[in-house]
Amino acid sequence: MSMLEIVTYPDNFLRRHAKPVENIDGKIQEMIENMAFTMYKASGIGLAAIQVGCDESIIVYDISPAEEKRSLCVLINPKIVSSGETTILGSEGCLSVPGFKADVKRVTSVLVEGFNSEGSPLRIEADGMLARVLQHEIDHLNGILFIDCISALKRELYKRRVKKKLRKKLRKK
Ligand code: NI
Repeated sequence: MSMLEIVTYPDNFLRRHAKPVENIDGKIQEMIENMAFTMYKASGIGLAAIQVGCDESIIVYDISPAEEKRSLCVLINPKIVSSGETTILGSEGCLSVPGFKADVKRVTSVLVEGFNSEGSPLRIEADGMLARVLQHEIDHLNGILFIDCISALKRELYKRRVKKKLRKKLRKK
């Protein structure tokens, strides 16, 4: 297994739409393994293939809090088939948006369909933290970042910070 490089904002790759996986071959299996490895190494709770430079429709996540209790979930071609009506604000971060957290409004429950790594169909009724993670990761597969879903003011703050950092980097070169 190897650590994959995580694509970060403002890289345009993050704006791509993932294409559906057509068959789960060795290459896809390897991608899943490396994505899981990368997510754990980076201490993330979810990762979409788009975030590691792969435009296939794959997400991995693990919302179990402790390392000893790891339980990896893999979803291929995930789709939100229905959403609850209630929304709730909750803090989110993202491995592709390092060093930034903000409150994002999400629906409290979703029904997601997709396939597991063996290609068997899955149907997940999620609420709470899981519902939030699934919405965040499935957004990635549609080119959407959580900073697109926050107030314009907060987004500008973050954008300015990134610009400043990029300028500093350029100066050092
Ligand atoms: Ni993310």
